[in-house]
Amino acid sequence: MERVVSPAEARQAIAEARREAKTIGLVPTMGALHEGHLALVRASCRRAGYTAVSIFVNPTQFGEGEDFDAYPRDMARDLELLAAEGVDLVFTPGVEHMYPAGSSIAVDPGDLAERWEGAIRPAHFRGVATVVAKLFNITTPDLAFFGEKDYQQLKIVQRMAADLDMAVTVVGCPIVRDQDGVALSSRNAYLTGEEAAQAIALCEALEAAAEAVAWGERDAAAVEQTMAEEVSAFRLVELDYAVVVDPRTLEQVTRIEGPTRALIAVTLGDTRLIDNAALEPPPVRVEDEKDAQEE
Ligand code: PAF
Repeated sequence: MERVVSPAEARQAIAEARREAKTIGLVPTMGALHEGHLALVRASCRRAGYTAVSIFVNPTQFGEGEDFDAYPRDMARDLELLAAEGVDLVFTPGVEHMYPAGSSIAVDPGDLAERWEGAIRPAHFRGVATVVAKLFNITTPDLAFFGEKDYQQLKIVQRMAADLDMAVTVVGCPIVRDQDGVALSSRNAYLTGEEAAQAIALCEALEAAAEAVAWGERDAAAVEQTMAEEVSAFRLVELDYAVVVDPRTLEQVTRIEGPTRALIAVTLGDTRLIDNAALEPPPVRVEDEKDAQEE
């Protein structure tokens, strides 16, 4: 596994892989790797002939007073994990490489970034879109792998790639959960023991939403209410939002008649956690339709 720190070195390594006609896969990360990241790496290793992973805690996606300084960092462990997965290239630039003095142009993440996480963290998606565009320009991947855990981020990156004619396919990969159902996140490391036990609030709310839909609930507001009630049972958990949205536009829906997405965000102690799940009415069985017609 090769490790490089400058964009020029990364370009050179990728150019060599291209000369060997290899498909390039990129997994952008901020390090503090867990099984969720490794699932992205494995997806890339399966689908691409050459996998590059970037590790960069991107300052422009953290707002004032957010956890940029406290964000967990463990480069030695990350490199060991990536080497064990058979990664070809690790790109670990410094802030001086990604934002040299005088950098001033940024990517406008558009209307998908206005609501939900974007409303609570106003500059966040501008920082994400900008750094991801830079990583795409440096590594020119054919495929880039992002977790569905950060669903809004995934949608914005997919839209950016389409709208800016980037020659990359942005692949969304399923959320990886622990044995209790809690979505893996580097920020889970901030939780105290008691808080960690209450982090199941998010997946329990999402499960309650899915159950309501499976039992026939089609009113999105009622499903949102179910999620809020589920969360209210957890003393330390404060709900930021629990909504049912159109998976393409991220706008709230009123009815759940086709594929929708439930998004949830909470504050637990000093930590914000997000999670989401697909919500879709079960397909109507032919026998059910016949029964309905006969009645
Ligand atoms: O999801 C993350 O870890 C970050 O937002 C990303 C995509 C690596 C950009 O800094």
